[in-house]
Amino acid sequence: MSCSAPAYITTPIYYVNDRPHIGHAYTTTLCDVWARAMRFDGRDVFFLTGTDEHGAKVEKSAKERGITPQALADENSAEFRKVLTTFGLTNNDFIRTTEPRHEEQVKLFVQRLIASGDIYLGEFEGWYDEGQEEYVTDTRAKELEFKSPISGKPLVRAKEHNYYFKLSGYQAKLEAFFAANPGFVRPAGRFNEVLGRMRDGLQDVPVTRTNFSWGIGMPGASEHVIYVWIDALFNYATALGLGDTRGALATERAKYWPPQYHVIGKEILWFHAVIWPALLMALELPTPKCVYAHSFWISNGQKMSKSLGNFIDLATIESYIAKYGLDAWRWYMITQGPLGATDADFSPKHFHEIYTANLVNTFANCASRTSAMIEKYFGGVMPDVDTAEVAISATEGAPTWSAFTHAACAKTLQQYADFELAEAADTALSIVRAVDASINETQPFKLAKDPAKMAEVARILAACAEGVRVAAVLLTPIMPAKCAEVLAAYGSSLDLQDARTNARWGGLKGGTRIAKCAPFMRVEAPTVVASA
Ligand code: MSP
Repeated sequence: MSCSAPAYITTPIYYVNDRPHIGHAYTTTLCDVWARAMRFDGRDVFFLTGTDEHGAKVEKSAKERGITPQALADENSAEFRKVLTTFGLTNNDFIRTTEPRHEEQVKLFVQRLIASGDIYLGEFEGWYDEGQEEYVTDTRAKELEFKSPISGKPLVRAKEHNYYFKLSGYQAKLEAFFAANPGFVRPAGRFNEVLGRMRDGLQDVPVTRTNFSWGIGMPGASEHVIYVWIDALFNYATALGLGDTRGALATERAKYWPPQYHVIGKEILWFHAVIWPALLMALELPTPKCVYAHSFWISNGQKMSKSLGNFIDLATIESYIAKYGLDAWRWYMITQGPLGATDADFSPKHFHEIYTANLVNTFANCASRTSAMIEKYFGGVMPDVDTAEVAISATEGAPTWSAFTHAACAKTLQQYADFELAEAADTALSIVRAVDASINETQPFKLAKDPAKMAEVARILAACAEGVRVAAVLLTPIMPAKCAEVLAAYGSSLDLQDARTNARWGGLKGGTRIAKCAPFMRVEAPTVVASA
């Protein structure tokens, strides 16, 4: 059953000292598919993304280029924003941490935490990962052999007079929360990692820095700036206006809280799974329902890195879109991406194989051969036959088309809702496979040679056309443009807030004009470059 309950989904906010690449495009596309699917199922969705603009790294990069940190942030934030438009992503807002609305609310949140005693002034000495701008515990430092797990550079001993968040005070509360919410971190393997690390015991975390100035000033202590991670995490709440309880935004958007999904990469899980819920508990705000930490895209079997020069950057992504189309890119991201606990390898050959197998040979071929036969045998007009009770195959016990697609629709929408996006794609595509199997089994092109069998041909092709239409309806959140193309050829339109009615069997009426269509064309295979 669809419901209109508000739903909130977020991407991480991306650092402006980097340029957009496949990693950012991937997470944002995942959220986009979910947002579209849920809106299509009648939910009132708020989809947020944005840029993380403070911190020592931005200050340093700006200095190297001889520009102000704000100028650097403006330039690169615009770049991230442009990507959203180029890719047709349907975010409802784009938050920047240098915006006054964010800065003001972060200060209000921090003031509340000082007042509640959750933030205090203290001294700290510990192992520090400079690249990640993060302290690690003594136990963890030992495990890591005193090297950063990300950059491989040595951890340094650092000492600071800082404001701290009393994370240690939330150990028991968090443990109880995790026990009561086994789906809080997904996939499950990642949750186990968090629980394992919790056993080391939680230490208080610094919430301010004094060694650089590009950040939000600590209220009442201007020599301190708020640590970039604390500043950044609050974006999820400031975008809804939750920090300023008097603000207009708070009243309009508060209904979206708490988030259904914070979608992130695995490297930033600790902040989202532990520090963030503890901060929210301290503020007495409801905690997110799920932090989904996907794994990484690697490239041709290797970790993507600047030094290897194998980053799938924006220009590379654009070259794929130019060759295969945006929806093919989205299909590959959704069906082949690292949504589970293992990394996924991006390779031109694999991309081409998936494109050809799923989109050209399955989806497009089915849409095209069905429309071509309707053109040939029925002058391009949908035969007027009720096919609801026709079985999908002659196999004993095979379901009827209406029962089969009804179940597939319910399952697809549930899988979208549960963030099982590759599974949702596969369930929707199973309708196309069933249409294909039915054509192969019944061979309407042979039956059509006998005029006495035209009623049977009509029944077969009417069911096939309706099957193609229903599949295109359900694949719309992943491939909006191509599905719209197929639906238009099949004389259908969509109500984008009602997937279930659209997907109901029998929507394609007899007499509807069906035009020939071929949504994905064969393209030349990439030339394989032998590695040196
Ligand atoms: N600014 C922080 C996040 C703050 S959220 C409150 C940050 N930014 S980032 O620009 O480094 O973006 C990290 C995110 O980009 C990852 O969590 C992930 O979503 C995405 N990816 C970056 N590289 C990736 C891959 N190689 N593969 C898949 N996604 C990855 O961290």
